Order: sequence, then structure tokens, then C-alpha cells
Amino acid sequence: MAESNRDLTLVTTLFILLQLCRIVSCSTSTLITRNLTIRDGDSLISEGEIFELGFFSPKNSTLRYVGIWFKNIEPRTIVWVANRETPLSDHNGALKIADDGNLVVVNGQNNTVWSTNVHPKLNNNVAVLLETGDLVLYSDSDRDTKYWESFNNPTDTFLPGMRVRVNPSMGENRAFIPWKSESDPSPGRYSMGIDPFGAIEIVIWEGETRKWRSGPWNSAIFTGVPDMFRVTNYIHGFKLSSPPDPDGSVFFTYVPSNKDDLLRFRIRFDGIVEQLMWNRDARNWTSLQVKPSKECEKYNRCGNYSVCNDSKDFDSGKCSCIFGFEPAYRNQWNKGNFSGGCKRRVSLNCSQSLFAKKEDGFRVLKGMKVPDFGSVVSINNSETCKDVCLRDCSCNAYEVVPGIGCMIWTRDLVDMEHFEYGGNNVNIRLAASEIGGKKEIWIILFSIVGAFMLGLCCLCIWVLWKFRKNVKDIFCNKEDNALLDIRKNRDYSVKSLSSLNEVLVEDQVDTPDLPTFSFNSVASATGDFSEENKLGQGGFGTVYKGKFSGGREMAVKRLSGKSKQGLEEFKNEILLIAKLQHRNLVRLLGCCIENDEKILIYEYMPNNSLDRFLFDESKRMSLEWRKRWDIIGGIARGLLYLHRDSRLKIIHRDLKASNILLDKEMKPKISDFGMARIFNYRQDQANTIRVVGTYGYMAPEYAMEGMFSEKSDVYSFGVLILEIVSGSKNVSFRGSEHRSLIGYAWSLWSQGKTKELIDPTIKEIRDVNEAIRCIHVGMLCTQDSVIHRPNMGSVLLMLESQTSHLPRPRQPTFHSFLNFGEIVEGKEVATVNDITLTTVVGR
Ligand SMILES: *[C@@H]1O[C@H](CO)[C@@H](O)[C@H](O)[C@H]1NC(C)=O
Ligand SMILES: *[C@@H]1O[C@H](CO)[C@@H](O)[C@H](O)[C@H]1NC(C)=O
Ligand SMILES: *[C@@H]1O[C@H](CO)[C@@H](O)[C@H](O)[C@H]1NC(C)=O
Ligand SMILES: *[C@@H]1O[C@H](CO)[C@@H](O)[C@H](O)[C@H]1NC(C)=O
Ligand SMILES: *[C@@H]1O[C@H](CO)[C@@H](O)[C@H](O)[C@H]1NC(C)=O
Ligand SMILES: *[C@@H]1O[C@H](CO)[C@@H](O)[C@H](O)[C@H]1NC(C)=O
Ligand SMILES: *[C@@H]1O[C@H](CO)[C@@H](O)[C@H](O)[C@H]1NC(C)=O
Ligand SMILES: *[C@@H]1O[C@H](CO)[C@@H](O)[C@H](O)[C@H]1NC(C)=O
Ligand SMILES: *[C@@H]1O[C@H](CO)[C@@H](O)[C@H](O)[C@H]1NC(C)=O
Repeated sequence: MAESNRDLTLVTTLFILLQLCRIVSCSTSTLITRNLTIRDGDSLISEGEIFELGFFSPKNSTLRYVGIWFKNIEPRTIVWVANRETPLSDHNGALKIADDGNLVVVNGQNNTVWSTNVHPKLNNNVAVLLETGDLVLYSDSDRDTKYWESFNNPTDTFLPGMRVRVNPSMGENRAFIPWKSESDPSPGRYSMGIDPFGAIEIVIWEGETRKWRSGPWNSAIFTGVPDMFRVTNYIHGFKLSSPPDPDGSVFFTYVPSNKDDLLRFRIRFDGIVEQLMWNRDARNWTSLQVKPSKECEKYNRCGNYSVCNDSKDFDSGKCSCIFGFEPAYRNQWNKGNFSGGCKRRVSLNCSQSLFAKKEDGFRVLKGMKVPDFGSVVSINNSETCKDVCLRDCSCNAYEVVPGIGCMIWTRDLVDMEHFEYGGNNVNIRLAASEIGGKKEIWIILFSIVGAFMLGLCCLCIWVLWKFRKNVKDIFCNKEDNALLDIRKNRDYSVKSLSSLNEVLVEDQVDTPDLPTFSFNSVASATGDFSEENKLGQGGFGTVYKGKFSGGREMAVKRLSGKSKQGLEEFKNEILLIAKLQHRNLVRLLGCCIENDEKILIYEYMPNNSLDRFLFDESKRMSLEWRKRWDIIGGIARGLLYLHRDSRLKIIHRDLKASNILLDKEMKPKISDFGMARIFNYRQDQANTIRVVGTYGYMAPEYAMEGMFSEKSDVYSFGVLILEIVSGSKNVSFRGSEHRSLIGYAWSLWSQGKTKELIDPTIKEIRDVNEAIRCIHVGMLCTQDSVIHRPNMGSVLLMLESQTSHLPRPRQPTFHSFLNFGEIVEGKEVATVNDITLTTVVGR
């Protein structure tokens, strides 16, 4: 009994102590007013309880500072310090609104040691710690006028929501200055900020010396940070506000991919910048990026006119002089001291004399972090960037950088780096003799070669004309080298089947080579390509229905006459589809090449394409759930075959509802391989200059940077799932305030109302969970970041298993880039006659 009484007393005492602590010394509040002072031991809490302001001592130090840190995160993570240069030596300090209206830190003797130092009006000012971690001083009666805010006076940390000013007329903005050491918040040697001159970039300085730079901002990414190409969540990341302030300033902001993530950028006392994210499970900060981290990222590591090669073959970046240059101090260079850099082998002429015929030339370097100190020239139509450079004797290089425009470099070329992925080209100016000898010789040589080629061509044309009957066989069965490459390993005999009867007698399923049809037979089967036989307009040609002898129906795709651009797609399609056999891929039955005609013949799909059903008010009703489910499964299996199970790894690149054809049993078949690409098995992604595809289905990294991989197909597939289940189009989606179906799906899902996305015309669903699972998988497939999307193998598993636990999708934000205005919703980017390159890609 006595013992339990003692316990009780102890508990009560503890409880009272705790209460006392809460009331007396550890009081928390949400704002500071004239009457409410924050003393050492009190704290100010932000809305949402994310940040906390109060007094602290750094590790190993007894000095007291006023700072802001993340509430509930251990160890304490300081993001801002007020009196970093004037610490208090005891616990008697306070933070209050002074008589002059400023927010001040005072010591025990009532002396001000730190002040916001503005000139506020004196009517009842208050200081509030906002949800973003911003400490703001304003008048209580007019909350729109901020007298002062900590986001405009940061210390070493950049938080999402902060705006960093970019204004050339105000000079470099070295906004962030790290601590002197881990236990001393006073300003250290380093600084980080914006170099606004020329092309805008982020720079880390040590004193006045540059230690790192991000490379120019191209309005989507910093071009010198190739991780931004690979990680592909740059869709969020940094943004530059577009309409300038009245004083001409624009601002960098940062948009996190997930609003709930706690993120911060911080420059450490040793001059290293880190991007950190709070890992809620491990309860520690995960580092997302560290700069500079590799040898090559150190500023001008290889000296002037020299390139640091950032290959995974080397641990510590290899230096080499650029073409036409040699080490300035060869002895030092060979010893590994690259600081002397390189010098020209042959100096430039740059003579204005009329007789100086030998103009300087250029040689391109690819995949580069462009040199520092470039200037951006807004050039008039009649002159090219190259001419601007040539006319300026001090110009050493030029390049038209996508997203920036014409850049020229008139100082020494410093801090160049070669990337394995991404980067830009740079044209280096060299003396004519470096470019490949004397021009005259080349002209003569070219003339001779040209004449010879012309003769050869004439001969070829004559030969072809003479034997024109065989041309089509040559094309389809023999000539295409790439096709031959694929077939080389197979033991097969080339059969030329030109008569239709032979084609029909032959069981095509096992014929490895492609039968050819005569143009006349195709023309008569389609009633001379008549309008009533027209089935539709495909990506690169018009599709007709053809009735061949024996009553056999086939689909005939006729490529638009003279279009050269269609030819590549034509060959591609023959090459790929003839080799692929899967019940969810459309079969190519033959081809026809005569004169200018290029025709492909496919199996006929009586039910046309999926979009005709899905986006048609009346037909949509006939697509009951079971059918939609089978269609989703069929497409998934077809895609898995392309990505993994066929002998080639194939990326389709233009998966969309109109490319899904339906046979008479409504089984889906993927069609239109004009844009598909074959990958090596070891290759994971590729980059293309020609971004072709259909907006609404294109993955962010493909649309923005031209990077495609099987995951970009997965993205398109995800859009398809959502469209099939909801019966609405992704791009022209007009659901409330959401700009895309993907965004709408996420918002419903996050509110637990996923069911509402299901197409209301679906009468009965035996198992609603099946549809919800489809939506969930669709959302996973359309994640912004490649790494968060599953591959087709996992997609099929997820679709088919009833029980498995699916990962949580993150909020998609990609559709928001439609706001940038470049992209017309629902516009097909590529058509037969005009391949428009809407997205310019850096390569
Ligand atoms: C602060 O105190 C003064 C006088 O003590 C009082 O008139 C005023 O209302 C108080 N203000 C607030 C916000 O409590
Ligand atoms: C704190 O002091 C101890 C002992 O002097 C030292 O080992 C440790 O590195 C110091 N920590 C920091 C953060 O300075
Ligand atoms: C500090 O100043 C306030 C008013 O300005 C006054 O009420 C207080 O007594 C002073 N404290 C000390 C220790 O002087
Ligand atoms: C964070 O915690 C995880 C799991 O405990 C651990 O693997 C990881 O190394 C930690 N990271 C850091 C930066 O401490
Ligand atoms: C960089 O190194 C890789 C691997 O050795 C090499 O293939 C590449 O050509 C080098 N690039 C440059 C610009 O030196
Ligand atoms: C590196 O080379 C430069 C230029 O030749 C020279 O000035 C410098 O002293 C050298 N540094 C070292 C450490 O050898
Ligand atoms: C170009 O410069 C080189 C070396 O500076 C010189 O030898 C040559 O004569 C010059 N050529 C012309 C056409 O000016
Ligand atoms: C472009 O042309 C206009 C008129 O011809 C001229 O005023 C302007 O300075 C030119 N701009 C540049 C960058 O040369
Ligand atoms: C490298 O180029 C910079 C910028 O033009 C220049 O200041 C520096 O002196 C150059 N360094 C050498 C070793 O020539």
C-alpha cells in the first residue's frame, strides 16, 4: 500500500511539474505582439506545427541564438538564425516588438542586439511564423504589407516557398551564407546565390572565387546538372517566375513534387550544397543531391580550354584539351597539375582585310556543360549566331542553346565538362587550318566526288528503270540492310510472292518474309482508294478497307505520296511489325512499293479503334466492364511482349486509344509502329531530337527532354487505363478545376472517392475493387518520375493479383506544365506532312 501511494505521489508531482513547465516557462504562442514577448525558453509555433521559433545553442556552444527549426524533428535542424553575429551569453534574452515597431532581440540589459531594421508604421505590429517557415513582420490591421520577412533575409537554407531574386541590375545575389563551423552560426567564407548576367545560373563562391556553378538555366533545368535529365522530376523543381516585378526582377522558386515532403537546400559550412528530404520512416534526412560531389563538378578543375570527362570509367574525372588546343605547361600537365589549362595550337586570324580569305571555322563539342561567362545575344533574323561570333574577334565559341537562344563566349573558355547523358553542344572557334586543311582542295575534291556520284546515280536509275518489275521485291525482301541484319541468323529462304493468290494460299503465319502485292490488286480491292472505303487517317497515311479476291478483308494503309518523312516510319514499321507475332499486336500481311506508292497491308479490324468506342457517347455504353477489363489486360500483355518477351526490346512511343484496334471479338491489338524504336537489351533509355507523339499520352521526360524508355510507354499505358475506366479523354478533360484526368484521378483518390472516376455508363460491375485497382495502377503508371513507375511485368502482376498491396502514388504535377503555353492540348505533334518539333531538346 505504502509503495503504491508513493508511486502515485511521484506521478502527480511529475504531472504538476509538466503543467508548470507548460504554463510558466515553456509557453508557446502563434504570434509576437507589443504585449507578448518571446523569452528564452518560450517558442513561437507556425500554423500546421511544422516550424518552431525560439532560442537555441548550437552543439558544443553555450551562446544563445534566436532561430527557426523544424518542430518535432531530432536532431534539431536550424533553417534560419536571427542574431548570427551577435549571440547572447546568457538565458535572459528576449524577442519582441520594439517601441520603433521593429522586431528585435534584446539581452538581459534591454540592449538591442539584433533588429529587423526597417521603418514600419507604428500601429500595432505583429510578427508571425508562417506555415512555410517564413517569419513575417506586419501591421495587424494590414496583413498585406510585409515590412520584413525572414525569407528575404535567409541564412544558409533555402526552403520551398522562398523566392530568390534575379536581377542583373542589382548584381550577383549571394543570398545564402553558411555557418562558420558546425557550432558557429556566424557567416563563413562561402556563399551561394545567383549569377544573373548572361544566362542565369547558381554559383557557389569561396570569397570571390567560384567553386561550383549549375550551368545556365534553360527555363526547365540547369543545364550543367545532368542529374536533372536523369531524375526527371525537374517538372517540379525550380521555376523562374515569368512577369518581372516593376523593378525588373524575376524570382526563382522551388516546387516540391509532393507538398507533404519536408525539403530543404542548405549550404554547409564547408561550401557543399545539399538537397535534403525528411524520411519519415527512417526519421533522418535523406540527401537527394550534393554539389559539388564529383571531381569534374569542381569549378574549372581542368583549367581553361580543357574538358573534364565525367565518365563512369574514371573515378576522378579525366582532363583533356579541346580539339585544336594543347597543354599550356606540358610538364605540369603531365604531372597532373591542370591549373595552367590549354592554349591554341594555331592562333586565329580574324583579319578584317579583304584579302584574308581564310575565315576561321568551328568544330562542335557535344554533350557539354557549356563554358562559364557566356553572353546571350538576341540576334536579328538576317544574321546567325555563327556570324555574330565570327564578326567578333574575341569570340571563342557560340551555340544556340535550346531554351536560351544564341550564346557567345568572348572570354577564355572555362569550366567545361563532358557528360555521359544530356548536356549541350558548343561550337569552338578554330583557325581554318585546324578545321581540315585548305578550302580549295576540298572544293575540288567535292566536285570530283560529286561528279562521280552523279554518274553512279544515273547508272543506278537506268538499271532500276530497266528492271523496275523487280524493284518492289528488292525493297521488301532483300535490300533493307537492317532487315537483313535481323534475319541473318535465321535460316530462311527469300520468297517473292507477287501474286495475290499465292499469298492467300500460303499460310502466312509462319512466313518470315513479307509478301508483296501489286499496286493494281490493291487499288481494285479498295475501289481505287475510294472515300467510302476509307477507315481513317493514321499517323503517316490514310487507311482503307480492302476486299481482296476470295472475299478476304484487309486494312490498307497508303502513305501520302511524296512525303519523304513517312519513308522512315514505313521502313520502321515493316522492319518491326513483320517480325513480331503476338495476339495483341496487329499483324502486317504484306506491302506494296511501286513508283511513289508505299502501301502496308494489315489484318482488318472490324471494330476499328478504341477511341471510336471510348469517346463516343452512344457507343461507350456498349463497352461493359468485362470488355474494358479484357482490353486493358490485352494491351498490357501486348506491351509486355514488346518490352520484354519478344526477341527485340521495343519501345512503341505512340501508344494511344486510336492506336488500339479492336477485332470482331473486341480483343485489343496494338498498331502503328511507325515511331517505335528497338533497344539493346542493356540499353535503358535513349534520347531523341525528334519528339514525336501525342500530348496527353507523352511522359514528362519524353515531352520535355526527349528521353524515352520503356517507362515512357508505361506512362502512355497508364493514361490509357484511366481513359478506359473513366470513359473520358486525358487532355480535353474538363472535370472541375483539374486540368487533366490524371490530376482529377489523384484528387479523387486522395479524398478516398476513387469510385467516382468510374464511367457512369458502366451499368454493372461485379467487382468494384477490380476497377479501383485499375485506376490505382493507372495512377502508378502515370507518376511524374520514371523511378516511381512500375514496369509492364509488375503492372500485369498488380492487375491480376487480388490481394497484393499496391504502392501509394505521389501527387502528379506534370499536367501543370500545360500552363506554360507551349503545348496545345490534344494536338497531335506528328502528322505525315509536318513533323513539328514542338519541344526543343538539348543533346
Ligand atoms: C496591450 O496592452 C495595452 C496596454 O497594456 C492594451 O491597451 C492593448 O489592448 C494590449 N494589446 C493587445 C493586443 O493585447
Ligand atoms: C564538440 O566537442 C567535442 C570535444 O571537444 C568534439 O569532439 C566534437 O567534434 C565537437 N562537436 C562539434 C559539432 O563541434
Ligand atoms: C526593459 O524595458 C521595458 C520597457 O521598455 C521595461 O518594462 C523593463 O522593465 C525593462 N527591463 C530592464 C531589465 O531594464
Ligand atoms: C537514415 O536511416 C536509414 C535507416 O535507418 C539508414 O539506412 C540511412 O543510412 C540513414 N541515413 C543517414 C543519412 O543517416
Ligand atoms: C570521355 O570518356 C569516355 C570513356 O573513356 C570516352 O568514350 C569519351 O569519348 C570521352 N569523351 C571526351 C569528350 O573526351
Ligand atoms: C601548377 O601549374 C601552374 C602553372 O604552370 C603553376 O603556376 C603552379 O605552381 C603549379 N602548381 C603546383 C602545385 O605544382
Ligand atoms: C593567319 O595567321 C597565320 C598565323 O598567325 C599566318 O601565318 C597566316 O599568314 C595568316 N593568314 C592570313 C590569310 O591572314
Ligand atoms: C535588330 O534590328 C533593329 C532594326 O533593324 C535594330 O534597331 C536592333 O538594334 C537590332 N537588334 C540587334 C540585336 O542587332
Ligand atoms: C583562365 O581564364 C580566366 C578567365 O578569362 C582568366 O582570368 C585566367 O587568367 C585564365 N587562366 C589561365 C591560367 O590562363
